Amino acid sequence: MTADELREKFINFFIEKGHKQIPSASLLPENDPTTLFISAGMHPLVPYLLGEPHPLGKRLCSLQKCLRTGDIESVGDSFHQTFFEMLGNWSLGDYWKEDQIAWSFDFLTKILNIPAEKILITCFAGDSDAPKDEETAGLWEKVGIHKERIYFLNKSDNWWGPAGQTGPCGPDTEMYYDTGKEKCGPECKPSCDCGKYLEFWNDVFMQYNKTNGGKYEPLKQKNIDTGMGVERMLMVLNNNFDAYKLDVLWPVIQKIEEISGKSYEEEENKRPMRIIADHLRASVFILAEGIVPSNTEQGYVLRRLIRRSIRFGQGIGIKEPFTSLVAGEVVKIMGDTYPEVKNKEASIKEELSGEENKFSQTLSRGLKEFLRFFDKNKTFCGADAFFLYESYGFPFELTCELAAEKGCFINQEEYKKALEQHQQKSRTGAEKKFAGGLADQSETTTKYHTVTHLLHKALREVLGTAVHQAGSNITAERLRFDFTYPQKPTGVEIKQIEELINKQIEADLPVRVETMSLEEAKNKGALAFFEQKYGDRVKMYSIGEFSKEVCGGPHVSSTRAIGKIKIFKEESCGAGKRRIYAKIV
Ligand code: ALA
Repeated sequence: MTADELREKFINFFIEKGHKQIPSASLLPENDPTTLFISAGMHPLVPYLLGEPHPLGKRLCSLQKCLRTGDIESVGDSFHQTFFEMLGNWSLGDYWKEDQIAWSFDFLTKILNIPAEKILITCFAGDSDAPKDEETAGLWEKVGIHKERIYFLNKSDNWWGPAGQTGPCGPDTEMYYDTGKEKCGPECKPSCDCGKYLEFWNDVFMQYNKTNGGKYEPLKQKNIDTGMGVERMLMVLNNNFDAYKLDVLWPVIQKIEEISGKSYEEEENKRPMRIIADHLRASVFILAEGIVPSNTEQGYVLRRLIRRSIRFGQGIGIKEPFTSLVAGEVVKIMGDTYPEVKNKEASIKEELSGEENKFSQTLSRGLKEFLRFFDKNKTFCGADAFFLYESYGFPFELTCELAAEKGCFINQEEYKKALEQHQQKSRTGAEKKFAGGLADQSETTTKYHTVTHLLHKALREVLGTAVHQAGSNITAERLRFDFTYPQKPTGVEIKQIEELINKQIEADLPVRVETMSLEEAKNKGALAFFEQKYGDRVKMYSIGEFSKEVCGGPHVSSTRAIGKIKIFKEESCGAGKRRIYAKIV
């Protein structure tokens, strides 16, 4: 089965069950300072899982592009990827377990024709926070899964979320496929990572809200959140347990074979080719969001992905610049499903080539550094090799070759130790970054959300309608807002903008929400700058008569609740773009 067929079958199945399809959200989370990328279909839906009404109703489904940076080091085996696609369906306080399990079973066995006896199920075993999920196991038995193939596992396996420290979460039930491989031992069962059992779909019963104090409180509404990995499901459907041989990746591997003159069938080429294919596919999607390689945040992840693929390219003997050629292949495969990559093809390729160029300069600096160090010390140890890698991105294998030419042997163990210590540190850093909570919907961020609308309108009042929103980011401490404008606003203009906002706050304007079509909202004069991400029904928020904007919410109910704001910084953020910071004081 092709990826197109699977995407279509899933979405159609749930549309027939009364769901509305929502478009894939951007890979970059909005108003969520704690994560760099969207990592699950539910991520853009957090406010609605917490009870905010969705303009398209209570039944939704989507195909969402996702990126998990925690998996960068795992890529290289047959099934890990950083970028992947997730199909999902949601009940926002509507249907519950019985419907979901019956539909999961029907979709798998009737639409995809997977034999019921190849499916294994896991359910939550229960603990002091929530009871054993006998109900779900019973429902699986009722639809036709034999008792022996249902396993009860604990929280580490059968509980999903919150994605950060607080937020919606709950017990889940996971669907596995038996690949037919030998068990790795008597204890081998679904959740074992030996490759015998492949997880392909997860139904989460989001009925709890994990609070700051670590308690699990019942949510206002019981939600269903599901996630099916497109690549995983295709592996099952094609009985092919190498994801890189699927139609969403195989032409990319073939392109890499063509460029390198090496074969994927040679075992030693598999890992480097998979890394190149995965990393450049992810890079294409990050670049399509307007992110460019840099040393911070998303730009740093992008730089790391591109440079890693170049190094692995060199490792299989590629001598010429190649990243934009591989990117071209990614665009060919994904461009129909995700037009943004097709529309930006030229700039994506240009950025890749630019970064490839920069990296080759980095490499020649690393070479100079190596020679300088070696001439002085006449030796080079594993920790030095790591320093060269860490500071210049200079590949270890290359350092070994250079050292060998000088008759010096580099201790690999020593290098590995230094690398592991470093990874440990950066992992702790990454965990901290991710531990802050998914889309923090606290009172303060809600206030900032409303201030963002006021700021947007005030900018247009003072600077004119050349101002368009180009990005927004909110933390509990401040808001940041990017907008198009050709020159630096003057100090007087900034003051006027600030005063205009504070005037609206003091006037205690009511904030109202109405649901309508995008067309209607625009006719009413609402600002709407992310049209590709809206569905057929949208929510329009009005702040008195001052501002009207299409947005998902949530917002304060009247502006006085905000207090007072101060603009504390304004700077350029690229050609024709400005960035402004404001805080509640
Ligand atoms: N949110 C769940 C997952 O990502 C469905 O597995």
